[in-house]
Amino acid sequence: MGKVYVSQHPLIQHKLTVLRRRETEPKKFRELVHELSQFLLYEATLDLPLHPWQIETPLAPYDGRQIGVRIGLVPILRAGLGMVDPILDLIPTAHVWHLGLYRDHETLRPVTYYNKLPPHVDVDLCLILDPMLATGGSAAAAVSVLKEWGAAQIKFLGLIAAPEGVKALSDAHPEVDIHLAAIDERLNEIGYIVPGLGDAGDRQFGTG
Ligand code: PRP
Ligand code: URA
Repeated sequence: MGKVYVSQHPLIQHKLTVLRRRETEPKKFRELVHELSQFLLYEATLDLPLHPWQIETPLAPYDGRQIGVRIGLVPILRAGLGMVDPILDLIPTAHVWHLGLYRDHETLRPVTYYNKLPPHVDVDLCLILDPMLATGGSAAAAVSVLKEWGAAQIKFLGLIAAPEGVKALSDAHPEVDIHLAAIDERLNEIGYIVPGLGDAGDRQFGTG
């Protein structure tokens, strides 16, 4: 099984609780997704390699460090979109490739409708962004697309997972680290995470 990280940070746990509330309207919901994504990114990048970078301060030379990998962000449409800008705020040089997947309501299997990957791999680390890991079908399909494309290292960043989704993604792609804010109790009979937060796309974009 891949490594699964569930943040215990008090700010994450507090903000995630507000995010889940039925009363939280789309504007506030988007702000919370923004803030939570930055906290998750912080934890998911603790192991990034650094290269030496010699600079001059106004007073003296300094042996500094710079991030040693090129990073690609892969938001799964629609709900992953809200995680892009907060991460670009912190890593402005990251590339962004949109991957359109939706779950067929009958089968719960992911259907791909959009793929904007460039022809050649030009990053070292891909971060898949999607707030919800339910059955795990969408995330596992996204990883398969990235692997076929030739991605070297892949991490999944999400907010809430069902145990079933964590297992499905880990079983299918054990080398992919999974970073989450919570693992909930279960999936219900129509594939929603319980207690969860409802439909993450609808709640961000007011389409529910
Ligand atoms: C949601 C969510 C994930 C997927 C998770 O997207 O954002 O992409 O479901 O479910 P899974 O783990 O069972 O595959 P949805 O299909 O609702 O599409 P949308 O964001 O366009 O509404
Ligand atoms: N997608 C969502 O947006 N929410 C869920 O609970 C499951 C899948």
